[in-house]
Formats: sequence, C-alpha cells, structure tokens
Amino acid sequence: MLAVKCPSCSEPLDVQLNFNFEPDKIRTGNYSGWRYEQFFPYAEERRIITLSEGWTPLVRFSNNVYFKLESANPTGSFKDRGSTVLVSALHELIEDSGGYISEDSSGNAGASMAAYAARAGLKARIYVPESVAGPKFSQIKFYGAQVIKVSGSRARVAEEAQKLEKGKFYVGHIFHPLFKDGIRSLAYELFEQFGWSVPEHIYLPVSAGTLLLGIISGFKHVSDSGGIEALPKIVACQTRRVSPLYHRFKGLKYDPPETLKSVADALVSVKPPLLELMVRRLKESGGDAVIVEENEIMEAFLELARRGFFVEPSSAVAYAGYKKQLKNNEVSKEDKVAIVLTGSGLKTTVKPFDAGSHG
Ligand SMILES: Cc1ncc(COP(=O)(O)O)c(C=O)c1O
Repeated sequence: MLAVKCPSCSEPLDVQLNFNFEPDKIRTGNYSGWRYEQFFPYAEERRIITLSEGWTPLVRFSNNVYFKLESANPTGSFKDRGSTVLVSALHELIEDSGGYISEDSSGNAGASMAAYAARAGLKARIYVPESVAGPKFSQIKFYGAQVIKVSGSRARVAEEAQKLEKGKFYVGHIFHPLFKDGIRSLAYELFEQFGWSVPEHIYLPVSAGTLLLGIISGFKHVSDSGGIEALPKIVACQTRRVSPLYHRFKGLKYDPPETLKSVADALVSVKPPLLELMVRRLKESGGDAVIVEENEIMEAFLELARRGFFVEPSSAVAYAGYKKQLKNNEVSKEDKVAIVLTGSGLKTTVKPFDAGSHG
C-alpha cells in the first residue's frame, strides 16, 4: 500500500513545486505532454511510460472560442495526462515487489490506468460502479485489466479498491497526488498554444476535481514563475444533479439525488473527497461555477456533434456551461475562451434515437 493521505491529519497529499516554469526548458522536439518533462522532476526519463499523450489540438471554434481536444488523447480522455505521470513514477516499485495496480473509477480513469499499466507490463485491477458505461467497461477489459463491478455508491467503489490485499498498490486517481499533478501539463500547453498568453475564461466539467485542481496548479505555477500577470477565470461546470462544488462555492445547500441518472455518466461524485480543497482553490484562483440541466447538456452535445466535435455528454457539460453564462451575460462574446473537451464521443451510450427530436 502506498500512502496517499497524510498519516497524521488524513488530508490528501499534494505536490509542492520548488522550481520555476521556464519556457526555455521545454523539449520543443517532443510532441507530447512530456515536452514539459523538466517540470516533473520526480519522473526519471528512462522510466517514462508513455503512449504519446498530451499536446492535443487547440481548435478555433468561433471568433474567440477555442476547444482543447482532450478527447484526442490515446485512451480518449484527459486522464492520460495523470496516468502517464503516475505510472512512470511508480511502475518499477510496483513491479519489483511483484504487486499490481488497484484503481477505482467511473470509467475513463480506469480505462486510462489500465492502458498505462499494460504499457508498463503491470497487472491492474479496476473497481467500477455497476452502472459503468458499456464502452468504457469493454475498453478496460481489452487492455487486459481485471474489472470488478461494485454495487452501491461511488464511495463504496473506492472503499473496495482501497481494501488491503497482498500485492495491491492502491493508486486511486482521486487521492494519489501524482495523478492530479500530471494534469498540470494541460495548463502549460494552453499557455504555449495561446502564444505565451492565456484566455480570459476556461470552462471545464468537474466531478472529483482532479482536472480542476491540476489545471489550477499548472496556471498558478506559470503565474508564480512570472509568466502571466493574472490567472484565467476557471469556470467549473457541473450537472444540476451532481453539483456539490457549485452549491458549496455559491454558499447554497446541496441535496444529492437518491439515485443518479444523468446523460453525463462520467460526472458522478456527489460527495467528492477533495471538495474543501476544490472550493478553496477555485476561490483563491478567482474562478466561478455554473450548473446545467439535462436538456442543456443534450443540446450542447448535439450542437458539438453537428459541428464535427463528437465528445462525451459529460464533456459537453463544459460547452453547455459556457452557453449558459453567455446567455446570463456572465461572459461576453468578446472574451477569449477555452473549453476543455475532456472525452471522446465514442465512449457514449447515448443512441441517436435517444436524442429525441434532435437525433
Ligand atoms: C470525460 C470526463 N470529463 C470530466 C471528468 C471530471 O473530472 P474530475 O473527476 O477530475 O473532476 C471526468 C471524470 O471522470 C471525465 O471522465
């Protein structure tokens, strides 16, 4: 078992960066997230396990709106940024002790971790909720991991994955500090792809908060290193049903639904263990939060697909959040905006006929 929480206060561990982000240290000939290798000093070059994740396209959608296509990562989601860093740092330790990786996930992180375990020649056991989306379940199986379906809440899935067993190395992406830390590369990429500047707003879907915490950490690093004067406004987008961060951020009471049924099947953390940290970091960074309804998600999903961007409904939540803030004049058409499209539409269980009159 690897420690993922502080043994005395039980707070999740975090990575402290005691060096600057310096553009001249970027490996410009490397067209993956590992072009920023110098800023992940704990991952030794000879141990890196990569599928050439990251350095994903930044596409102009309309005048001032850009999409960051995280769906173009090797396993179809942004999670590969975390998995490559985590597995690179730990695979030798796990292999030398004859152990295996244990992870809990609603689907995408499990698929990603299974792929990087396979690439490293490691065994993986992925615990998933019973409601896991079929395409994600198959993807994990095809990578050769053992998949365990757990009934009950998302928290129960995590408990099972953490149960002590011989050879088990729990590297759960929500708790393990190196997974979130790997997401920092997304902020560096946006900074570089926007020509050493940042857009005014960045919209992203939020569930357990690894994407949110990782991207804020990356932009803060750039800012602390003198690269930018102000952080972009990070807008955390949630579904009405799964919106603990939105409610806490706005000082409202949140009653989680008894059963979860949302087209955004990757956004399931009704009680995210990192909630306090998420609220704190979002506030400190000057960010904002928005919630969207099921029909708004579906409309955004279809609009994106009809314009060539086939992403998961969970990813369309970020575009729906942008549209809502535009309608409410919380962002202007003139503002430069990046929307992170986190996962591929090939993973969705939505069928064209489910999409009703739009389908
Ligand atoms: C496609 C997709 N988008 C967004 C998220 C939210 O990421 P996080 O749980 O880090 O908040 C997830 C998480 O599973 C996801 O799979």
